[in-house]
Amino acid sequence: MAAIRNVAVAGASGNLGSHVLKALLQANFNVTVLTRSQKPGSYDAKITVAEVDFTSTNSLTSALQNQDAVVSTVGIAGLEGQKILIDAAIAAGVQRFIPSDFGVCTTSPKVLGFPFYSTLATVRQYLADKAATSTLSYTVVAPGSFLEYLLMAPSVVDFKNHSVALIDDGNNRFSTTTLANVGTAIAGIFNNPEKTRNRVVYVSEAILTQRQVLDIAKEIKSKITWTISNIKSSDVLREGLDAVASGDNSLQAVGKILLGTAFGGEEYGSAYDSNDNILVGIEAISQQKLKDLIAERFN
Ligand SMILES: NC(=O)c1ccc[n+]([C@@H]2O[C@H](COP(=O)([O-])OP(=O)(O)OC[C@H]3O[C@@H](n4cnc5c(N)ncnc54)[C@H](OP(=O)(O)O)[C@@H]3O)[C@@H](O)[C@H]2O)c1
Repeated sequence: MAAIRNVAVAGASGNLGSHVLKALLQANFNVTVLTRSQKPGSYDAKITVAEVDFTSTNSLTSALQNQDAVVSTVGIAGLEGQKILIDAAIAAGVQRFIPSDFGVCTTSPKVLGFPFYSTLATVRQYLADKAATSTLSYTVVAPGSFLEYLLMAPSVVDFKNHSVALIDDGNNRFSTTTLANVGTAIAGIFNNPEKTRNRVVYVSEAILTQRQVLDIAKEIKSKITWTISNIKSSDVLREGLDAVASGDNSLQAVGKILLGTAFGGEEYGSAYDSNDNILVGIEAISQQKLKDLIAERFN
């Protein structure tokens, strides 16, 4: 397989995409951004920007000429549409595709039938089927929970109201990675195309529990009295599934499904005891950096 040099990024203006873009530039890849509409001055002069119609294979195929790889970081609204992007990547002769997935337990067989997860699974299956019959290969990235998001989620630790609803006693383990290092891992994948071919790459800067986050918070601000309650991941999951089944597709309902699974412990494989950190250039987070990120939540 030829070396990957030219990389197209879909969804580069998003939360994760901006970090991926930065990491790819730092690693000296030639980057082309695929966007629905370019905002003036949004991108560095080194970046080629292509305005595309994500619903048109022709538009995408022409934007993907000479690209070695595509990484998609599109948000929820764009997930289903990635099938068209995959078709265009094949038509343009792209070698590697990383779909927008980036979950904690999205690849666990136990969540495949659940809302939201099923969309990701459909795209992965589409990609795997296409990879079996074309020159395109793929890598799915499982980075655990984005650390910055995890620390902002009141359902994990509510730093504003000083309260915590402990899920299954708060000892469930889950992997987590900072947004910047999800970007670093993607650059690492493109630098190791053979070893990352047609599989899930697991990245884990730390394995944490809710109680560990709370303990560090207590260490930083020892005078705070926390209100502690207890919930069961299976109850939260059931509430989310029932709500969606009754037609409620709100972020809150889907959020319960995500909370009940991603923070549901070993059941859903959320802690990556074995991972690909070394291969893709990721080091474990230092205790000090973790403490600093948690301290920021009190500002
Ligand atoms: N593990 C975790 O903790 C975690 C947490 C959150 C998200 N995620 C995952 O990370 C990925 C990226 O999420 P994000 O929150 O960074 O996304 P985001 O900020 O919501 O959106 C990213 C970009 O997607 C593009 N986009 C939006 N709708 C589109 C459409 N219909 N077709 C094509 N492009 C569209 C937009 O770019 P343009 O306007 O430039 O076209 C947008 O800036 C997703 O797979 C998500 O599931 C994981």
